[in-house]
Amino acid sequence: MQIVSTTESSSPADAPEDGSVQAVYPPSPEFVAQANAGPELYEHADADRLKFWATQARRLDWDTDFDQVLDWPDAPFAKWFVGGKLNVAANCVDRHVAAGKGDRVAIHWVGEPGDSRDITYSQLLDEVSRAANYFTSIGLEAGDRVAIYMPMVPEAIVTMLSCARLGLTHSVVFAGFSATALRSRVDDAQAKLVVTTDGQFRREKPAPLKAAVDEALGTGDDAAESVEHVLVVRRTNHDPDMNWVEGRDVWWDDTVAESSPKHEYEAFDSEHPLFLLYTSGTTGKPKGIVHTSGGYLTQTSYTFHYVFDHKEGRDVFWCGADIGWVTGHSYLVYGPLSNGATEIIYEGTPNSPNEHRHFEVIEKYGVTTYYIAPTLIRTFMKWGRTIPDSHDLSSLRLLGSVGEPINPEAWRWYRDVIGHNRCPIVDTWWQTETGSAMISPLPGVTATKPGSAMAPLPGISANIVDDDGNKVAPGEQGYLVLDQPWPSMLRGIWGDDERFKDTYWSRFAEQGWYFAGDGARYDEDGALWVLGRIDDVMNVSGHRISTAEVESALVGHHAVAEAAVIGATDATTGQGIVAFVILREGIDTDHETLISEMKSHVSVDISPIAKPREINIVPELPKTRSGKIMRRLLRDVAEGNELGDTSTLVDPTVFEAIRSQRS
Ligand code: WT7
Repeated sequence: MQIVSTTESSSPADAPEDGSVQAVYPPSPEFVAQANAGPELYEHADADRLKFWATQARRLDWDTDFDQVLDWPDAPFAKWFVGGKLNVAANCVDRHVAAGKGDRVAIHWVGEPGDSRDITYSQLLDEVSRAANYFTSIGLEAGDRVAIYMPMVPEAIVTMLSCARLGLTHSVVFAGFSATALRSRVDDAQAKLVVTTDGQFRREKPAPLKAAVDEALGTGDDAAESVEHVLVVRRTNHDPDMNWVEGRDVWWDDTVAESSPKHEYEAFDSEHPLFLLYTSGTTGKPKGIVHTSGGYLTQTSYTFHYVFDHKEGRDVFWCGADIGWVTGHSYLVYGPLSNGATEIIYEGTPNSPNEHRHFEVIEKYGVTTYYIAPTLIRTFMKWGRTIPDSHDLSSLRLLGSVGEPINPEAWRWYRDVIGHNRCPIVDTWWQTETGSAMISPLPGVTATKPGSAMAPLPGISANIVDDDGNKVAPGEQGYLVLDQPWPSMLRGIWGDDERFKDTYWSRFAEQGWYFAGDGARYDEDGALWVLGRIDDVMNVSGHRISTAEVESALVGHHAVAEAAVIGATDATTGQGIVAFVILREGIDTDHETLISEMKSHVSVDISPIAKPREINIVPELPKTRSGKIMRRLLRDVAEGNELGDTSTLVDPTVFEAIRSQRS
């Protein structure tokens, strides 16, 4: 256990007198006095980890109690809460209604054009039941897969919960992904149903969305064979050319909305698959990360309660993520709703109609707990403090950060300008694969340091080790590993056990540790600093994108013979995508045209978030004698650094050519 002592400095407002910046921020006595977590949480977990997790699991309602906490002999395939049965949706909805909290608002939904809806737990139960009845009526059965390709409308969450209620495994595909990306995910999961909307609002303009589903699902010989139905929610009402496949396509209004709001749920095994979520790895093909029911809900629910210090009936929680990412799954759906929280679901971008939007929402709804990515904090910094300063943000009492390392400057700005130096900040490290927060301060317990995720949460064990698995000394960089299984851990990669073992468990196979793909270090006080990915995965605005995926999209452009992609440091987005491409023989189109073509090609093939910031057409790529592209050197070129060691290159002069190309 490493929690930095809370006694280093007496009060949070204690700025050092010598004018230097404050290094450690202990929690205020007021926060400590009311916090859900206390230091004893670490003590309980350390004394008996499995007993600790059993206690956390019992925060949920089980229809059949479990008889074993963890089954791990078949590692890395874990089973948690063995023998237990529960219904995830009933834990998120029914039990709050049964406890007399049906009139509490679950979701304050804020639409991007300015419309809004408040949905109580009772109303949510009705809607989830209607959708469950409809899904059953079209023959869907527990274990079937459902793809969800929707903007942030309430029906998206209703669909996720109805799937959970029926034991259908959902696979949410971010609505910003292309038709190609949707198709590969639908095929891989063999989804029977796709739920979508007619369109989505993007910066106040309606854009078609179902059209992408039609394109993805194809026709005739090219049709996605697994898909039986496409269920369409009316959102924009603005696609006059919308295609409609009779027998396949149905409107939500004509089906779900007409179904009965009464539905008896069934309990499922603790290890029943709850969802798949595709994420980028080091190779081109996205991995379908598998999460199951009991363990996943236990840890998302537990972390939501303690990390966000959630107070039922009082707090208004807002997580700025999209349901297309794991943060949206765990902290927009399963964590908050299993705790009976009231939360904001916001459909749009932070600057529509203008840069005041987020602060207006905080002010209007009295948001208490605000959880966003560092890239947005840095964007707010760029827009300037007069924007947040012109709003009453006094309802806020806790701030969270997620998705990428937060630089100390952004941390301090967040604390000062958004949190008015009153709100603790929880910098939560985790991954799609970990399912829930893993390394984070506990508000009211941890004295935080700007930029550090501090320590593993109670019940979680992490370590930073060198190549041989030895714990690194303070200040030394090493590999971040998770050396004990945890309840919300991924249970595998959909349909590919070998890739699962190989990707996460082979690096430290002997020790049986999970290798996260991140580099990290401890400081002198034992605080843990995550430094970012050390593999070929980029992190752009908190979105995970593999270099290989972008490279393969680029090579799919007719003019490109070879491509190398790197993530270069970017002041706002964390990393920016920079590509180096070699053209095929005989291409004589001018470079400017080609580059803009290639950018839109990547955008269409993967998603606009994967569009390179910069593409350089170069005569050659730097390669080692074994043929490996030296990405490290390309990063130096892109960032304008001194070149690192070039001695292993076949032809060091390649750099002169690349540099001259860029200037
Ligand atoms: C990767 C996981 C966590 C859900 C959203 C992203 C990076 C995430 C932090 C943090 C430093 C972080 C890591 C990780 N990351 N949170 N607080 N500090 N780095 O999930 O898309 O699966 O990406 O995001 O590099 O491996 P993801």
